Amino acid sequence: MILTKIVPQTIRGQKRYLVAGLLVFFIAGLTAGRAGADPTRPDRRQWFREAKFGLFIHWGVYSQIGREEWARELLQIPLPEYQKIALNFNPVNYDPEEWVRLAKEAGVKYIVITSKHHDGFCIYDSAFSEFDSLKAKIQKDLLGMLVEACRRENMPIGFYYSIMDWNHPDYLPRRSWEKDRPVKGADFKRYVSFMKSQLQELVLKYQPAILWFDGEWEHKNEDYDAVGIGQMLRQLKPDIIINDRLFNRAPGLGDFGTPENYVPASGWRNEDGSLRLWEVCLTMNFNGWGYNHYETEFRNAPQLIRQLIEIAGKGGNLLLNIGPRPDGKIQSEFVERLRQIGAWLKVNGEAIYGCQPSVFERLPFFGRCTVKENRLYIHIMGWPVEKKIVLPGLKNKVQKVYLLATGEKLSYSRREKDLTIKLPEEPLDRVATVVVVEVEGTPQAEPYKLAPGADGILELPVYLAEIRSQMGQRAYLDYFYRTTMLTNWQNVNDYPEWEFELPRAGRYELLASYAYQWGGKSSFLVEIDDKTILRGQSEPSPSIYFPATHSLGELELGAGKHVLRFKITSIANNNALKLEKVILKPAAAASP
Ligand code: GLC
Repeated sequence: MILTKIVPQTIRGQKRYLVAGLLVFFIAGLTAGRAGADPTRPDRRQWFREAKFGLFIHWGVYSQIGREEWARELLQIPLPEYQKIALNFNPVNYDPEEWVRLAKEAGVKYIVITSKHHDGFCIYDSAFSEFDSLKAKIQKDLLGMLVEACRRENMPIGFYYSIMDWNHPDYLPRRSWEKDRPVKGADFKRYVSFMKSQLQELVLKYQPAILWFDGEWEHKNEDYDAVGIGQMLRQLKPDIIINDRLFNRAPGLGDFGTPENYVPASGWRNEDGSLRLWEVCLTMNFNGWGYNHYETEFRNAPQLIRQLIEIAGKGGNLLLNIGPRPDGKIQSEFVERLRQIGAWLKVNGEAIYGCQPSVFERLPFFGRCTVKENRLYIHIMGWPVEKKIVLPGLKNKVQKVYLLATGEKLSYSRREKDLTIKLPEEPLDRVATVVVVEVEGTPQAEPYKLAPGADGILELPVYLAEIRSQMGQRAYLDYFYRTTMLTNWQNVNDYPEWEFELPRAGRYELLASYAYQWGGKSSFLVEIDDKTILRGQSEPSPSIYFPATHSLGELELGAGKHVLRFKITSIANNNALKLEKVILKPAAAASP
């Protein structure tokens, strides 16, 4: 079968791109479909799996408006007007080498940049579109320049490509407010062949390592021949990696999943239990991916570093986004954060790159674990007051325990399967200090069971919870001198969840320890086994950082497994409480 020919085009009298007569044969079943089908070839996704950290770049003509990449839609800018804005695109300070230098300094192992976003503008020289950077004031192949800079530095580069296209006359539907853009004559099938030509062009011309699709949700896979496109790309470049959005996120079709702006509670797995590849794409700021001139809110570097650790500990990658300015410069907020992450990785990179997920389901302190060969890396994020940590249920014999940054050996003791490690007085790094535990064989740990202590009291600290969230996650764990709390809890969709087991049925008093100091009250509820057990309102504590324990009420619980969720339902003054823990305490014998 012969692929669609890429037709030569003469633009501005100059022959720009010619792959006419190119014959590409579909060799059915050879490279199509899933990776690793050929057992003699190493998994083509292995480098991606090991990379752990990539840089996402959203950059286009929308950057000039300074209201993120959806500007045309959000501000309802008519197409002719937007096309004029596009012509003005003139990033005179664009220095792709500087971008790649910054990426390397940050410690990222690959870059993904928007070749064409929803607005349809191509930052490269496209033979199939008049709406590209060669037509704008800059008259340069901006993408090609970055590809070259990446090649020189051995930095893999991938392209974001939007299926949705607000510029192409054949793309349907129109935006709801575009009353004067005719639909008559538009042919979505023709759009699909345009898209195929562009994708073929992108792959043949620039050989990207990854194709990162988006903007698929207005159509079904069949409408735009998702499977056909996937096969075409893999035939053109057998080792290409494709995200799940080409396939409307259908499991099993793409190479990796793409949770957006939240960290999934537990690592994503395939149906057979094997680890699935996934990559969290995350913005440093809160409003948009493209340059937002008016942005004032940014996640801080410690939070981003801890998120990278958390993701690595769950088996995923982090694709951290920046939206460069319209002139090509990168704003200082992004540069600073990238440098801070890079500085941490320079010392601790061994505990991230190429690592496997944690063998512990839970750690009984604020920390995370990653694994490589016979080494466990314990990332300690809150330095315990007792200056020691316990790794519960480690099955292996321990050979050596030391601090990653200095090599200093640490003493340890064992009680059955629990390993207690003595820590120095002070952490080496308050964001995360890494302790290495070298063991005999492949690290393994027993499942962790949350159950009441000898006194019958069950403590549920937030570091033992799964933090559930979806797109727009705000809440994260942070350490406050001697306690860890769930903080920045501004999205009602974020909540901690604990699974625990009670040896016998009984009546319990439910208590919650939290810090809360703002005027007004936030409301919360406690759910056990999917039923709302009680509702409450936040009471003040000694300070915004210092928690107090409040009794919430009594309840009956049966023996066996339970799931408890603590949810917020309304947030006063944009600041919900900071939760330290929930406690289940056997109710006084006097109660009936
Ligand atoms: C969403 C947005 C898009 C952004 C993408 C990144 O799909 O529509 O603007 O590029 O997320 O994941």
